[in-house]
Amino acid sequence: MLGPFPRNRRPFYLVLVCAVSSICFINLLFLTYAIDNSVIRLPNLNLFTATTNPVIGEYANDEHPIGHLMREANRQWLAYDNGRSTSFRRTVAKYRETYGRHPPPGFKEWYMFARKKKAHNVDDFQQITGDLRPFWAVPPAEIRQMAAGLQFSDGIAGVQIRNKKIVNSPVDGWRIDTMRKSINRIVQYLPDMDIALNIMDQPRVMVPFEATQEYLRTEALTRSLPSDAQDGFTPGMDYLYKKGSSIEEHVNPSWFSIAGKLYMDFAKESCDPHSPARNDNLTIEDTDKLYKSPSGGFVTNFTASSDLCTVGPVLGENHGFLFSASSNLITRKLIPVFSECKVSVNNDIIFPANMYFLDDKRYVYNSRHDYEWKDKADTLLWRGVTSGGVQLADNWQHMHRQRFVHVTNNTEMRSETVSILSETGSGQYRTYSSFYPGKFSLDHFDVGFIEAWGCIPNCSFYDDVWTYKKPKDFSEQFKAKYLVDIDGHSFSGRWRAFQLSKSLGIKATIFREWHDSRLFPWRHFVPMDNRYDDLYGLMTYFLGLDPQASPVDAFSVIEPYIQNHDFEAEVIAAQSREWAQHALRNEDLDIYLYLLLLEYGRIIDDNRDNIGYSGDGSELDHFDDQYPFSPAIRDIVNPPPPLTDEQ
Ligand SMILES: *[C@@H]1O[C@H](CO)[C@@H](O)[C@H](O)[C@H]1NC(C)=O
Ligand SMILES: *[C@@H]1O[C@H](CO)[C@@H](O)[C@H](O)[C@H]1NC(C)=O
Ligand SMILES: *[C@@H]1O[C@H](CO)[C@@H](O)[C@H](O)[C@H]1NC(C)=O
Ligand SMILES: *[C@@H]1O[C@H](CO)[C@@H](O)[C@H](O)[C@H]1NC(C)=O
Repeated sequence: MLGPFPRNRRPFYLVLVCAVSSICFINLLFLTYAIDNSVIRLPNLNLFTATTNPVIGEYANDEHPIGHLMREANRQWLAYDNGRSTSFRRTVAKYRETYGRHPPPGFKEWYMFARKKKAHNVDDFQQITGDLRPFWAVPPAEIRQMAAGLQFSDGIAGVQIRNKKIVNSPVDGWRIDTMRKSINRIVQYLPDMDIALNIMDQPRVMVPFEATQEYLRTEALTRSLPSDAQDGFTPGMDYLYKKGSSIEEHVNPSWFSIAGKLYMDFAKESCDPHSPARNDNLTIEDTDKLYKSPSGGFVTNFTASSDLCTVGPVLGENHGFLFSASSNLITRKLIPVFSECKVSVNNDIIFPANMYFLDDKRYVYNSRHDYEWKDKADTLLWRGVTSGGVQLADNWQHMHRQRFVHVTNNTEMRSETVSILSETGSGQYRTYSSFYPGKFSLDHFDVGFIEAWGCIPNCSFYDDVWTYKKPKDFSEQFKAKYLVDIDGHSFSGRWRAFQLSKSLGIKATIFREWHDSRLFPWRHFVPMDNRYDDLYGLMTYFLGLDPQASPVDAFSVIEPYIQNHDFEAEVIAAQSREWAQHALRNEDLDIYLYLLLLEYGRIIDDNRDNIGYSGDGSELDHFDDQYPFSPAIRDIVNPPPPLTDEQ
């Protein structure tokens, strides 16, 4: 905030304000038809807005695979941003083209809500449609019965909406309280419904592959665009939860616990028979080709890198959630459960995590605690507790966080070699498979556990394994250029803050969240393999590697060498920040939840095939003029100024 003006400078500012006002006034008088609104603006006001400064510099002119991946990501991103609808007419037409249905009842009001809250993209909600798709194969009354029956089920809390209000319920807890608050902001737009909220960290619904395929086939047959669809929900439907009534008994969710068991033993039934999880003939090398670059092993398909049907065989015994989850209560039935995240084999309905709605200082970004890129350290930073799965003296090596802390530990890595790419001159790269990373990690990594947690009988077996480090809050973390985000028990709540920050987020995960389709790997963040076998390849690319810095090696003096790509890292960090300010705001969470509950409201409506918005969108032409869309995201990279002769 601007403080009061210093007393002695007041006259100066008064004169300045008068001058600026009269210039504006003169402009207004004489130039109104020749100028646009942008002229009537005080200089440098954008200093006080949240926009991201341009990044000045040039991409390295070389053939590194990461350069290709960034260019490809930008190409896809441009197609995405240029392809967005910028009017209600176009939005409804696009909805019908994409899903073969009318938008749900109340879509017009949702659109106005989203536009007033400055949604940048009103098309990108396919996660919602995708999550709900199989339920088109289940009769609406049956879904309502299930949701009603689940209201007080194990690990579930219910939210009931009646007459545009949330019904008071004796159940509380931070998740359900947060959810109620969020829904309260939009409840006036929603029909009566029961929501079954998962209050466990882990996702719950895992339908076998063949059954899901059958549901999806049925869904495709139910698509239609009736021209006389009613833009309203059906009032007074039965089978909503009623205290004391007996519908609960008709629905048995058949929960069973797989806590502590190998997740893939169950998950593979939900995979395509041709996928690596169910096809023993595929080797790890075959699988790697599905999502890693042939040179360097960088993630080329982030969705596949977190798809358990693809990476499950390799990761099944190397990730806490898959190896020894502390709790995991699932069902094989298709039932409507709302969860904050899921893995690729789940049928849970995703909503924006409650964590993001909390004003928790551990997860909320504040730009006052951030630094400019040039003032940040060339460091990769991670802090966390030993969460992920139940740990015993002889199993913790199978946990993902423990593996990460190991692979970044310079003492442990002193005698190990890893594979990286090394520059051969003229901008070409080749694999250098015997890099000793000890010194590099000593110089650049600041990684460690802050405490041990979740061990049986206690965590004393870690006493000689780790050195616990001091926790760092965001203001400390943002001093590092590179911030790693890896899973805990579940998805990681820090990711939004990392995306908003001026540091570069590097992410490895198996969890899916509401925002996945809007975050482009290699444009908004750097994807990392859950095995971390690309970690040193990534970090030597960004930080560079000087031949002198490598350990003495009698056979190679020049190699390995890589120029640094600090500029590339800064560009991705700036692009992520700018985009997060448009697409990961609190408003965006509300906008997502609102549309999700409209879609859910339709799918549980007995009349669902004949309701929806069937107009052409022209009613909102005037509205669209009043609330123009924000301009396309501009290119943040500016070339450096030309060199002068003397230089
Ligand atoms: C694996 O290979 C064997 C022998 O070639 C073949 O009989 C079998 O059908 C293959 N399995 C799958 C799942 O493709
Ligand atoms: C990426 O992987 C996903 C999941 O395995 C797959 O559906 C998709 O087609 C792949 N994308 C590309 C471009 O190969
Ligand atoms: C932790 O467990 C070990 C092995 O069972 C035991 O010897 C030790 O006393 C325990 N330590 C604490 C602090 O309870
Ligand atoms: C790194 O490994 C060494 C040797 O195992 C261990 O003593 C040290 O505590 C580890 N460092 C951290 C930060 O965990």
